[in-house]
Amino acid sequence: MNFTYYGQSCFLIEAEGKKFLFDPFIKSNPLAKDIDSSKIEADYILVSHGHGDHVADLVELAKQTNAEVIAMVEVAKWISEQGIEKVTGLNFGTQQFGFGKLRTVWAVHSSSNPDGSYGGNPAGFVLTLEGKTIYFAGDTSLTVEMKLLAELYNLDYAILPIGGHYTMDVDDAIIAAKYAECDQVIGVHYNTFPPITIDTEEAVAKFKRENKTLLLPAIGETVTL
Ligand code: NI
Ligand code: MN
Repeated sequence: MNFTYYGQSCFLIEAEGKKFLFDPFIKSNPLAKDIDSSKIEADYILVSHGHGDHVADLVELAKQTNAEVIAMVEVAKWISEQGIEKVTGLNFGTQQFGFGKLRTVWAVHSSSNPDGSYGGNPAGFVLTLEGKTIYFAGDTSLTVEMKLLAELYNLDYAILPIGGHYTMDVDDAIIAAKYAECDQVIGVHYNTFPPITIDTEEAVAKFKRENKTLLLPAIGETVTL
């Protein structure tokens, strides 16, 4: 399984012959200026919530890829109104897709759509691909809800925000990884804006001290999971 990082919370997972794009935000991210988004392909686009740093390129990439877009019902409604037809709205719980079972989980954050309309609750996702279970937390603070993940799954990877200010910081993400009982974390949602700038070397060292691995792929880098 391949994971390609596009900056902020945008990444592509390639598994089982399918491409899963998450939270498309590339063109308006100066850190991702070297990514040519016109070359991105996707079968599914998963959207955690309606904030601009998660959906800025969604409409364009949904049209370009003809992917099925998956989002909370209120965000899905906004996406449909932008002329995107392949949209599945959902809410917290489990959902069956062509790639298997998805679980949409609680995220402690807010959500509104780019036009200011109500975005419902923000969400995270858990999906199992090629036998590996991955938790993408979306934008969230630390919450004891994450303990439920340890009860439901043996997580292989947790993709967690680590930049702080709007979401968990590094210290909270370590606690989240402990709650979810996951040793391998991919850090996202950091360094894009001044308030979420972190010391990445210190972050990696902090995880290591807790016997956990923090992976920080560079923007444009692909790592094998
Ligand atoms: Ni947000
Ligand atoms: Mn965000």
